[in-house]
Amino acid sequence: MQFTVAIDGPAAAGKGTISKAVAAHFGFAHLDTGLLYRATGRRVLDGDTPLEAAQALRPEDLARDDLRTGGVAEAASKVAVVPEVRAALVDFQRSFARRDGGAVLDGRDIGTVICPAAEVKLFVTASAEVRAARRFEELKLTDPALTLAQVLADVRVRDERDSSRAEAPLKPAQDAILLDTSDLSIEAAVAQAIAQVSAALPG
Ligand code: CDP
Repeated sequence: MQFTVAIDGPAAAGKGTISKAVAAHFGFAHLDTGLLYRATGRRVLDGDTPLEAAQALRPEDLARDDLRTGGVAEAASKVAVVPEVRAALVDFQRSFARRDGGAVLDGRDIGTVICPAAEVKLFVTASAEVRAARRFEELKLTDPALTLAQVLADVRVRDERDSSRAEAPLKPAQDAILLDTSDLSIEAAVAQAIAQVSAALPG
């Protein structure tokens, strides 16, 4: 069976948690496409050009434990503007989406560019303040000097860069279902996403 769930949205909206829970619930494979851009950004910080970095990506690059920092997120959103970088990552994402047994992909352009024919498209959002507060809780564990104001500023800069780029900008597909998680618990957001997928499954 081929069945694709596309989950897009801005930084720290809850895509990752929702995607993992949906994939686990239905037994689908999950790809966090942000990791491809983070791993590319990481390689650029280490000296590669953006295109070299995207073309040289290996599974071990995605397994690195230093991809979740603010600095790597910033580098990721910079390489994500480069059309050749995005093009180098398309085939891998499309084959993953159509693998047998169902797939959940989360990112920025899954429903618009990578899988416009996805069976379910969700666009997960929340206010910038709520997203920054959630991300701050994660990042402060490894970076005690970080402030909430700094995380909010970083999230705003990245959203603006992701939304205004010419190639595959962050925006909901026309037929995406909007899921605003500002006032939802994670359990409630996951339950809504699972209900949308259940409703679209054949038979
Ligand atoms: O976890 P968070 O939402 O903060 O970020 P991410 O999903 O790991 O993505 C990091 C960066 O990669 C984003 O800010 C985008 O610039 C880029 N990205 C993209 O352009 N297209 C995707 N499909 C996924 C991520």
